[in-house]
Amino acid sequence: MSDREKLRAAEAALRAGEARAAQDPQRPAYHFLPPANWINDPNGTIHYGGEYHLFYQLNPYKDDWGPMHWGHARSKDLVYWEHLPVALAPSHEKGEHGVWSGCARINRLGQPMIFYTSANLPNEEDKGHNFSQWCAIGDDEMLNWNKLEGNPLLSIESHGTPEFSKEWRDPFIFEAEGRTFMTIGMCGVGMPIYEAVDDAFLDWRYRGLMHDGNPECPNFFEIDGKWCLLTSPYEQVRYAIGDFDAENYRFTPEIEGVFDHGDPNHSLYYATNHCYAPDGRSIIFGWIRGWKPGRGWNGCHALPRKLRIAADGTPRQLPVKEVKKLRGDKTRPADLRLDDERRVLDFEYGDQFEMKLRLRANSAAKFGLRLRADEGPESGVMLYLDADGLHLDQLLIPLDDRDRAEPVRLRFFVDRSVIELFVNDGKHVASRVFERLPEGKRIELFAEGGAACFEKIKIWHMRPIW
Ligand code: FRU
Repeated sequence: MSDREKLRAAEAALRAGEARAAQDPQRPAYHFLPPANWINDPNGTIHYGGEYHLFYQLNPYKDDWGPMHWGHARSKDLVYWEHLPVALAPSHEKGEHGVWSGCARINRLGQPMIFYTSANLPNEEDKGHNFSQWCAIGDDEMLNWNKLEGNPLLSIESHGTPEFSKEWRDPFIFEAEGRTFMTIGMCGVGMPIYEAVDDAFLDWRYRGLMHDGNPECPNFFEIDGKWCLLTSPYEQVRYAIGDFDAENYRFTPEIEGVFDHGDPNHSLYYATNHCYAPDGRSIIFGWIRGWKPGRGWNGCHALPRKLRIAADGTPRQLPVKEVKKLRGDKTRPADLRLDDERRVLDFEYGDQFEMKLRLRANSAAKFGLRLRADEGPESGVMLYLDADGLHLDQLLIPLDDRDRAEPVRLRFFVDRSVIELFVNDGKHVASRVFERLPEGKRIELFAEGGAACFEKIKIWHMRPIW
């Protein structure tokens, strides 16, 4: 099959799966996901020609990971997305079994380009593989992509020393001081830095190692006068903020931490992709994983987040302001003081809503909310504070004294089987999948072992994006 035929077959598989996927009550309604089947990493996010383009790891054939394609969508506002034809399919006849993660850039000749990892997995045990970095060139609308005849762009053999792991992958391109660089993940010896020495971005020279990590999906970008590295090390995404010395090709981190609290054994925000908005904002896309196969769809992306660096040098992330467009009916329950009691808010917000509130402990030992609860005292999803920190179901977000300075501000988004939580204006973030999210529709507030106050409560129904 030619690449064109494979792209058509992928489209047909998505169309065939669409109706089943759409009717699943657990399928998120305002988070991005493909028409059917499997999604993982966001790839090649870029603002181009007045629109945001989002590519993503797609298995069009199954609701599980498999032969990776690049799905494609575009949006004017980061909220409503239009699905576009699948952009890339693996070229089996060239030994390519998966089109893995990467980035999109416009070269200095004005051509749209995709840089990705061509994965060859010749046998079932995934042995004998030897990945390389390929590129494809797009038309002006980014709808049709042609893989370069001269691929691979970078191979283990052409690289030389130090010897990289054969699983190296996920090229990411960044600009510094008018120069264009690329780093790559999973090399085994640290993160390499290459520099493009031509306008077509086809000639890359190895300049050394810029950092000692070996993560998947490194993203490296300038923000608020600093440099930020986001990494996906098989567990929670981490950030490192510091300085980049383009003369010596070195990144020196100063502050590091967890970017999004998740649990690799349950559900996780993972494999970020960064792009700049035309107004200079740093937008971060990420994959939320944690559903089991069997629903006709699997995985979604987090709401696109605006990242900034706060005065204390640590990152703050919140959904982009455009997400407010999705707000529908709003309810503002009165402030409440609960003393060793529970209270059901007297309306039902179902399974698609955004909620904001402020919490003060007073004397309570444990206090918070029960979401999507029904009459049962143990029903629903727990979101509460106690001496250990903030709990979202079984996930614990440790809080220090500054984080606990009152009131603690919570903002969260429930979208059927997924929750994204932003604490204290996005200082701490957690994402969680609730595959068997309770059917209940209530929001209950509670305080145990003393009193707690719930203030400035606002709840919005959220509209679907499709
Ligand atoms: C991260 C990742 C990447 C790889 C892609 C394959 O989730 O493992 O390292 O390129 O997914 O789908």
